[in-house]
Parts: sequence; C-alpha cells; structure tokens
Amino acid sequence: MRRMVIGLAAVVASGVGACALWPERLAVNAPLMHSLYGWNASLPEASTLRKRVQVPDGFSIAVYAGGLGNARFLRFTPTGDLLVSRPRQGAVTLLGRDADGDGAPDGRRDLLTGLNRPHGLDLHDGWLYVGETDAVLRVRFDADAGSVSGEPERVVRDLPGGGNHWTRTLRFGPDGGLYVNVGSSCNVCIEEDERRATLMRFEPDGSGGEIYASGLRNTVGFDWRPETGELFGTDNGRDLLGDDVPPCELNRIVRGGFYGWPYANGNRVPDPDLGEGRAARIRESLPPAHAFGAHTAPLGITFLRGAHWPPAYRGAAIVALHGSWNRTQKSGYQVVSLHWGGRGTISERSFVWGFEHDEDVIGRPVDVAEGPDGAIYVSDDYTGAIYRVAHGGGPGSATAPSAEAPARKDPLAGIPPAVLEQRVQRGRALYERYFCAQCHEGIRAAEGVIVVPLQQLGSRYGVDDLVAFLEAPTPPMPALDLADEEQRDLAVYLLSAYP
Ligand code: HEC
Repeated sequence: MRRMVIGLAAVVASGVGACALWPERLAVNAPLMHSLYGWNASLPEASTLRKRVQVPDGFSIAVYAGGLGNARFLRFTPTGDLLVSRPRQGAVTLLGRDADGDGAPDGRRDLLTGLNRPHGLDLHDGWLYVGETDAVLRVRFDADAGSVSGEPERVVRDLPGGGNHWTRTLRFGPDGGLYVNVGSSCNVCIEEDERRATLMRFEPDGSGGEIYASGLRNTVGFDWRPETGELFGTDNGRDLLGDDVPPCELNRIVRGGFYGWPYANGNRVPDPDLGEGRAARIRESLPPAHAFGAHTAPLGITFLRGAHWPPAYRGAAIVALHGSWNRTQKSGYQVVSLHWGGRGTISERSFVWGFEHDEDVIGRPVDVAEGPDGAIYVSDDYTGAIYRVAHGGGPGSATAPSAEAPARKDPLAGIPPAVLEQRVQRGRALYERYFCAQCHEGIRAAEGVIVVPLQQLGSRYGVDDLVAFLEAPTPPMPALDLADEEQRDLAVYLLSAYP
C-alpha cells in the first residue's frame, strides 16, 4: 500500500503518462454494479436469483438478510443470533434468531460501533472478541439478552494494521488459544515487521503473543477439522504473474510451519521477483494441502459439524471464494465444498455458484457459518446480503429477498450549497491529481487496464461510507495518503458525479 502511494506520488511528480505506473500485467477486472433501482436493488431481484444462483441437488438457497453494507465475518451465538462484522461501517451487528420461522432475522441492531475496521469475531468465556485492523478487543457478551455490557477492552494492541491486507480474522482453537491472522502489507515484498504474513496465537487475555506459523500471505479464513483436530487455513496467492498462476491455497497449518511467501508460490515454485538465491528456505516451506484456482481469493472456511448433512457433506469444509480482480476472465465468485478422501486427498466441488455469469457479478462470498438450525449462512460484501443454504426445503427455501428496503435518501442533502460547491471543486482536483480516471474511465484509462466504471455510488454509499471506503479501499485500488477533509471532498465530488 505504501509502495502504491509512493508510486502515485512519483507519477504526480514526474507528470509522465499512465503506462509506466500501470503495466500491462496490472489489468483490473473487478465487478461493478450494472443496474440499480434504488437503495436495496443491489440485492438481486428474486427472479434473477432463481435463475442465477445455484446449489447442488437437494439443497435450497434464500436471501436471509440484506442491506448490511460491507458484510464480512459471521459468528453464531449460543442462542442462535447471528453476529456480522461490517468493517467499513466500523460496526458489529446482531441479527436476531429467526424464531418466527419466516426466513428472515427477527430484528437487527448494532452491538458495537465506532471500531477500527472490525473483522474477525469469536465468543469465548462470556466475552465477544473482535479483530480490529491493529488490535483485538473484547467486551462482555450476554447471549440470552443478545447484548454487550461494559467498556470494550483492547487485550492486544499495536498489531501491524492497515496495508494491503488489513483484515484481522480471529478464532479460538480447541486448545483455548486465540488465533489471529496478520496478512502481508503488500502484494510481494520482504516485510519489516516479522508479524506480517503470519498466523499468531495469544492467550485469551491477550498475553503470550507468538508467531504460530509464517509465510502466509493472507490467511483470512481458518478452522480446525473436527475429525482430526488439524488446523486448515485459506491463503490468497500473489498478483501480477498472469491469469493462471499462482494458485490460491488451502494449507494444513502446524506450529512453526513456514508456507513459502514471499519466496515461493504454490508447491515450492520460486517467486520470479524474490525467489532467487532462496533455495534452502524454499525447500523448508510446506506446500499447500489443496490448490484453488489462481486469483479465486478463498476467504472464510468452516467445517460442517452437523450430523444431519448427507454423507458426502458430513465433515466437508465449505469455503467462500471472493473472486478475482485481475484475471482477463473473472473466476471465483462462488462457494465450494472440499471433501477429504483416502490419504488426505481433497476434492473441490461447487456449492453455491452463479454470482458471476458472463462477467456480470451479483455477489462476492466472504464467510461461511453453520447455524444451530442446521443451515449454512454465507455473507456477501458486494450487496451486503446474507444467504441461507439449507438441505431440503423447509423455512427459507423460497428464494425471495426478505430484507426491508429503507427509503432512499440523497446522500448530499443537508450540505449547504456553497459548501457543496467548494467540496465538489476540491474533490474534482484530487480526482485529477491522483489519476483516478486511469482505472475508472474507459476513454482515459491507462493502457492494458481493464476499467472499473464508477456507477450510481449514491445508491450504495453515503458520504461517510465513501470516506470509509477511501480510507481502506479494496485492493488493488490504492490507498491514498489524504487528510480527512480531503477524503470528504473527494467523497462529495464522487457522489455528485456518480449519484
Ligand atoms: C490501480 C487502479 C485504480 C486506481 C488508480 C483507482 N482505483 Fe478506485 N478502484 C479500483 C478497483 C479495481 C476497484 C474495485 C475493487 C473491488 O471491489 O474489487 C475500485 C473501486 C473504487 C470505488 C468503489 C466502487 C464501487 O462501485 O463500490 C471507488 C468509489 C473508487 N474506486 C474511487 C477511486 C478514486 C476516487 C480514485 C482516485 C483517487 C481511484 N479510485 C483510483 C482501482 C483503482
């Protein structure tokens, strides 16, 4: 990220054209919203859902909740409420258990707000633990009341935050340890902080921090296989080596294990940029247990624990593939199941697919959780929805969006016209200064870049949401070193230009 910022500054200073900055390899092919009919239309229409989103025979899928913005990680409480982290909103939200069986949560409320990009969630010993980008906090949680009490306490501080991989997932292991992923700060580089690109382990009170495993570029999801107690984690392979390399990974993570990044990718293949002269280190690295397609971006993983699943799915792992941004043709954008065969062989099958069709995207899966009702819940940070996948029919098998649509508001209403005009002007200047058009406007794009048009931002963002996005953009969108007011100017300009 820092490098990106420096790169941009260099271009600004030298005033050279775009091509030097965005080499042909940096082809951007990320999703955009095509048609939006108001606030909540970012959820696919029921008919589109029925046509597009598919599950294996015998399963059914429905939208459980919508309108959640940046819905990321999921955790069920012992009483069946569903906790959702929403990093860009700074919030952890509780969706009430569907006690009336209408296929939608019974109410929702923010449990915690104003957090610094909350992502990972877990419950332990009466505490709710939350991973912020640079800290782990915990707060007393009463599962029966579905409420928190007391002041949040930061039990781990000073984690390296921000950077390309700013999300911190956390989960308690069967050994009672608190495991936290700290992704790399960059695409590929030698890190200054040795805690980057690792999985760390702490005691529940935040003491005893250690690097549990290293060489993990960004292990966003991890879970313990109940049958064996082995720890498995997803890992996203590096970018800019072409469409089909390197693979994304599932690793069997052991204490002290080194998994290759940044010197090797996939099965000990030396990295073209940093692998030279590192043969010994690469030999020590542990190859993946399973290779996912390149750039598919596996995130959340959960092993199915219920005894009611059909035999083929009992004990399987369900993995969310967020989808590629820099492949010529998109890949990922689905949920897959992993099935263990004899001698540790793992086979991969599609579990929920159709979020991407002919390059058109209607969803990006992030996390997967098995509910106490025996269904699988999948979060989608593209439309802010939670999907529910059940085996057989039963409640929720109708594929209708059940979320209430809040009335659409003009995000710029309430700003006095004179202030608005000034902000728009300053925002437009920033937009030009930072070469936003190079990735966002067809006619002004840098050569080789696949453009992501900005469209109807007002239907999905308020000013604060957009400021939050600019503060922590989704890679490869570079983070900019802007002052708060400048971010606000830019956000206001974008909302006026792409309402
Ligand atoms: C290197 C190319 C690149 C540059 C330069 C860039 N962006 Fe982006 N931007 C992206 C990509 C790629 C995405 C989509 C990321 C994703 O969600 O996968 C994106 C997403 C966005 C979004 C969210 C769009 C949506 O529909 O939710 C906004 C807003 C945005 N960019 C604004 C800007 C602004 C303002 C600038 C200049 C300061 C800028 N970008 C510069 C690549 C770029």
